[in-house]
Amino acid sequence: MQIKLNSPLDMHLHLRDGDMLKTVAPLSAKTFSGAIIMPNLVPPITTKEALLSYKERILKAIGRENFIPYMTLFFKTDYDYEFLKDIKDEILAIKLYPAGITTNSEDGVDNFSIDSLAPILEAMSELGIVLCVHGETNGFVMDREAEFIPIYEKIAKRFPKLKIIMEHITTKEAVEALDRYENLYATITLHHLFITLDDVAGGLLRPHLFCKPIAKRPEDRMALRKVAFSAHEKVMFGSDSAPHPRDKKEAPGCAAGVFTAPVALPALAQIFYEAGAIENLQKFVSQNAQNIYGVTPPLKEVILEMESFEVPKEYNGVVPMFAGESLSWRVKDVI
Ligand code: NCD
Ligand code: ZN
Repeated sequence: MQIKLNSPLDMHLHLRDGDMLKTVAPLSAKTFSGAIIMPNLVPPITTKEALLSYKERILKAIGRENFIPYMTLFFKTDYDYEFLKDIKDEILAIKLYPAGITTNSEDGVDNFSIDSLAPILEAMSELGIVLCVHGETNGFVMDREAEFIPIYEKIAKRFPKLKIIMEHITTKEAVEALDRYENLYATITLHHLFITLDDVAGGLLRPHLFCKPIAKRPEDRMALRKVAFSAHEKVMFGSDSAPHPRDKKEAPGCAAGVFTAPVALPALAQIFYEAGAIENLQKFVSQNAQNIYGVTPPLKEVILEMESFEVPKEYNGVVPMFAGESLSWRVKDVI
């Protein structure tokens, strides 16, 4: 059994910088045609100069692979219209983080009043810049995403022309919100299709599955699977592959993030196949994103086959999801 995917896209990816970038970027560039690159470096990407030089470093790290890093800017309320107009053609989106909610988000937004957000959202809406959001409040950890939905709704209503991506959704509440507003879209990760909180903390604690937003309940996973497997036209694959060195994960204060880039396509093929939904994988990993973002990625054909894939225990000191386990699909060829 084989399938062919055309130009897979990862619409939420952390590539980091320095040696980590050199380790992880080639792993995504090998099988994906492009990815939305998250701006939460230290310091975050907030200037055109920083953005362009980060893009250069990414291109250098991937070598000759045919892969587009779709760049993003870290959301700040003090960007003015002229700045956004000038940088618009260099970015695909601006990523909003609530302050301190996840890795390297300390400089994010701490005031979600519409008055404070309106000027920049108005400008983004007019310039056609997509808004990507890490939608969590600072409430109880299991409730943070559901509590953030009214903020999505407030923005979606006030700026109907602004495309809003609810990043890495994990709850049935977020799935339900998708259909209430025309301008709300979502990315779904690999790990949230596979795991619930039980896999993270129900037995021995599994630090490599710890991420933000935390994996939720079985009924939430079911709702995610339903929209992903049916390739609902408003959802797209965004791995949120977020590598951290082993010593930052296997630590008393474990960093949030699951590293999935090298296993993403085989694991997606496996779970879609098992669900009888393999014919919808192309839409989920490429076509929907192309439609939502209006991009045409470079042509890349990825042949996946139903053969055992022994997942490496680590890649240069970074532990991937399914480390040391075997998946039932593997990448056969990339053309
Ligand atoms: C991400 C990271 O490590 O940069 N971590 C995570 O748990 N997903 C940040 C993010 O997307 O929240
Ligand atoms: Zn992320």
